Amino acid sequence: MTALLELQDLKVHWPGRGAGWGNAVPVTRAVDGVSLTIQVGETVAVVGESGCGKSTTGNAALGLAPITDGKIFFDGRDLSLLSKQERRDLWQEMQVVFQDPVAALNPRLTVARAIAEPLVIHGWSAAHVAKRVDELMALVGLNADQRDRRPMALSGGQRQRVVIARALALSPRLVICDEPVSALDVSIQSQILNLLLRLQRELGLSYLFISHDLSVVRHIADRVCVMYLGVIVEEGPTAEVFARPQHPYTQALLSAIPRPDIVRRGRKERILLQGDLPSPLAPPKGCPFASRCIKAQAACNRSRPPLEQRAAHRLVRCFYPNSV
Ligand SMILES: Nc1ncnc2c1ncn2[C@@H]1O[C@H](COP(=O)(O)OP(=O)(O)OP(=O)(O)O)[C@@H](O)[C@H]1O
Ligand code: SF4
Ligand SMILES: [Mg+2]
Repeated sequence: MTALLELQDLKVHWPGRGAGWGNAVPVTRAVDGVSLTIQVGETVAVVGESGCGKSTTGNAALGLAPITDGKIFFDGRDLSLLSKQERRDLWQEMQVVFQDPVAALNPRLTVARAIAEPLVIHGWSAAHVAKRVDELMALVGLNADQRDRRPMALSGGQRQRVVIARALALSPRLVICDEPVSALDVSIQSQILNLLLRLQRELGLSYLFISHDLSVVRHIADRVCVMYLGVIVEEGPTAEVFARPQHPYTQALLSAIPRPDIVRRGRKERILLQGDLPSPLAPPKGCPFASRCIKAQAACNRSRPPLEQRAAHRLVRCFYPNSV
């Protein structure tokens, strides 16, 4: 397998919102040492609660968030060593689909013009643009008679299809999907997820799929990274992590979603997560999850557990993980 995107110990520390101690400038440690790899044709999901750093990770890969430390490789090329022009060329290969298609689309542009925008910016001729727009609309399941509609005349699902068509216009290899179905009705969510899966098969796409919804992740991802307070606490093949979570945080998240297999056996125990995510302005010195962990012991507050391999293809950041 070939690595398409590789993040190595990525850190994004935002100049903090709020007051620091004395003269110190407060720093929000949004992403605090994330390493992950996406192979060609693979979907890797990043899941976790609001504020844990999912979008900042995706935005850093896209060049939309400033990198404090660490490296990003795309197709084996270190992004920090590229010229501005080389980066611009490379970013054609990396596109993004955000949560809210209403915000992503200019209400004055028709469907055809919205999809054509990146092609026009890249200097395509009018004839080539028209042909490509027809192709893209068919690819994402939009009818030709929707060409001249405005976004507000479309349903939420159709609008997100327009956003996906526009993201695919320049034939990217990686699409960063940041909560792409969270704003949609549940009945429409599965249609868009199935569209993303079909597009992946047909076009050989890779996805970094950001979501807080584990049911969605189970449907779409090959591998899952569970994020907590700026770091990955568990990573592994989706089916294995869902069947046998090793980190107490993953266990708590999974216990909150319906599991028909467990309900049938009459053993659905919910682990309630107490309290909120600690502030990324002042992350704990020890285990980031210690303040909410039902298994926490004194040692957990003294030092930070490393992300360690605990089984084949499974990484866990915990001193006392469940065995698989
Ligand atoms: N531009 C910014 N400037 C300062 N702090 C920021 C900025 N963007 C995000 N943050 C902070 O970084 C942390 C991580 O935010 P991020 O948006 O990456 O989380 P998230 O996991 O995507 O959350 P959500 O599920 O709500 O989208 C949060 O504490 C947030 O307030
Ligand atoms: S290291 Fe300790 S506090 Fe952290 S997740 Fe493991 S048991 Fe819980
Ligand atoms: Mg986000």
